[in-house]
Amino acid sequence: MKALRLHAVGGPDDLRLDTVDVPSLAENDVLVRLRAAALNHRDVFITRGLYPKIALPVTLGSDGAGNVAALGRDQRGNFAVGDEVVIDPMLDWGDDPSVWDDSHSSILGMPRDGTFAEYVAVPATAVYAKPKPLSMEEAAAIPLAGLTAYRALFTRGKVQPGETVLIPGVGGGVQTFVLLFAKRAGARAIVTSGSDGKLERARGLGADLTLNYSSTPDWQRAMRSERVDLVVDSSGGETLRKALDVVRPGGRVVVYGGTAGEATIKLFPLFWKHVSVLGTSMGSPDDFAAMLELFGDGLRPVIDRAFALEDGTAAFARLDAGEQFGKIILRCSETP
Ligand SMILES: NC(=O)c1ccc[n+]([C@@H]2O[C@H](COP(=O)([O-])OP(=O)(O)OC[C@H]3O[C@@H](n4cnc5c(N)ncnc54)[C@H](OP(=O)(O)O)[C@@H]3O)[C@@H](O)[C@H]2O)c1
Repeated sequence: MKALRLHAVGGPDDLRLDTVDVPSLAENDVLVRLRAAALNHRDVFITRGLYPKIALPVTLGSDGAGNVAALGRDQRGNFAVGDEVVIDPMLDWGDDPSVWDDSHSSILGMPRDGTFAEYVAVPATAVYAKPKPLSMEEAAAIPLAGLTAYRALFTRGKVQPGETVLIPGVGGGVQTFVLLFAKRAGARAIVTSGSDGKLERARGLGADLTLNYSSTPDWQRAMRSERVDLVVDSSGGETLRKALDVVRPGGRVVVYGGTAGEATIKLFPLFWKHVSVLGTSMGSPDDFAAMLELFGDGLRPVIDRAFALEDGTAAFARLDAGEQFGKIILRCSETP
């Protein structure tokens, strides 16, 4: 089969389209013939060596959707060959719904070979029925980013109808899901982006107030009159500091990343306003199942562009340059 594999950690140019054996199956595995996969910033970080314990060569890719192609010995009867499925990239979350067991859990697509290939072998516990209304490309767009957004907004952030949510850097893969889910939950959404084009797209998805953090570096001043109940952030850096300025007394700030670097936060607004700062990463199996349900009745992910597997390095370049709005897709195989 064809697989987009990383051979060194010098960046996306170290990816090669190799011909390798179709993965063999353990007793509890399912072999999925992938129709589509999607990129996450994690994939770019790994190509640069910015991840612990990188083992090479490896097939990257955490997100995928496709058809069941074969079943491990203990899984016969649970799925049928041909079933349309989507994969939960959070492997072995553990028994505690409040936090993953990070001594055992892992994310599909390093160290375990991932979805930028024609086939992937995954534990059956990670395989879910594809939401029927979604195309294979749409289903492939949602796993890692949708799961992270779901847990950040609902499980950790506990968003309520009528609340105002601040979503910095709305163009990112995860943040577009936060916007979609916040609107679905009946919240008001304030978003920032470095691009006016992305802000226009966000307005099309229901963003109520949009601010450009590049042309208005003091965007937090421009929203002083707003009452922000919840911030969901992956930028870190100055953005997190500003979020503490704008969140209301008693509000919540949920953090799942630090794209713009480490943050030095101001302590006074944190304690004076009784702000809750909540960390989160990926999500539990319950979060994944609940997230998929949101796509059962008309909600659709935002897809930026689809590339052939052969053009994987061009897809990485687009993500690396931050040109995307929503998810970048790789087409893995044309037929089930
Ligand atoms: N902990 C977890 O489980 C988890 C899961 C997924 C992702 N993450 C992390 O979350 C981050 C985003 O991941 P992703 O896959 O969604 O990445 P992505 O699609 O590449 O998005 C990155 C986004 O960050 C925004 N950004 C960059 N600099 C910014 C700044 N100074 N202020 C505000 N926003 C800024 C940009 O928004 P605009 O283009 O709109 O300006 C960009 O779209 C990464 O750091 C990733 O590692 C963590």
